[in-house]
Amino acid sequence: MRDCLIEPVPEKTAVSRPLPPELDAVILDEKTIQRRVRQLGSQVSRDYRGQELTVVCILTGAFVFTCDLMRSLRLPVLSEFISISRYSRRPTTGAVKILKDLQLDISGRHVLLVEDIVDTGLTLNYLVRNLSVRNPASLNICALLDRPELRLADIPIRYTGFNVTSQFLIGYGLDFQGKYRNLPFIATMKRPY
Ligand code: PRP
Repeated sequence: MRDCLIEPVPEKTAVSRPLPPELDAVILDEKTIQRRVRQLGSQVSRDYRGQELTVVCILTGAFVFTCDLMRSLRLPVLSEFISISRYSRRPTTGAVKILKDLQLDISGRHVLLVEDIVDTGLTLNYLVRNLSVRNPASLNICALLDRPELRLADIPIRYTGFNVTSQFLIGYGLDFQGKYRNLPFIATMKRPY
């Protein structure tokens, strides 16, 4: 038998994570998020049973959720990433451009677009239109968080983790000035942001 090359870290050396000073309250703790992600993974696995799935992570915020979701899928999975510029602050236009496109030709593939949070829906509205013309066999959306009260574009979200209200959120992929994406929970921010 081979020796184990990686020593487990003794529990007493674990360092507790300093909480960000901007944090107000944790609204979704790590256990709650992980439990819901596993449920979503089971549901997706059931729905796509016998098929290969192409998971498209929308950068940047969705990368944490996508990693956990993918590991809970019991399917053959391909992973792809797409990055788009934020639409202009005149949101009715929804105008964006692709900064990093898919590497794969998705024609004939079952595609699951993974998003961390849906607000106006303009990002997904643009992406669904853009990816649909590439003729995927199917195209569905999985979003961890949904804020329906902010919606401007009607988009069909097949899988939703949690509905949330329109507070400023950080953690589990969501950032404040680029920071705090690594927090394992989701929290509200203190005002002023
Ligand atoms: C956030 C989020 C979604 C988008 C949702 O991205 O990750 O992609 O906003 O908003 P919408 O429904 O109003 O279009 P953000 O632009 O903050 O970039 P990030 O993912 O790099 O943090």
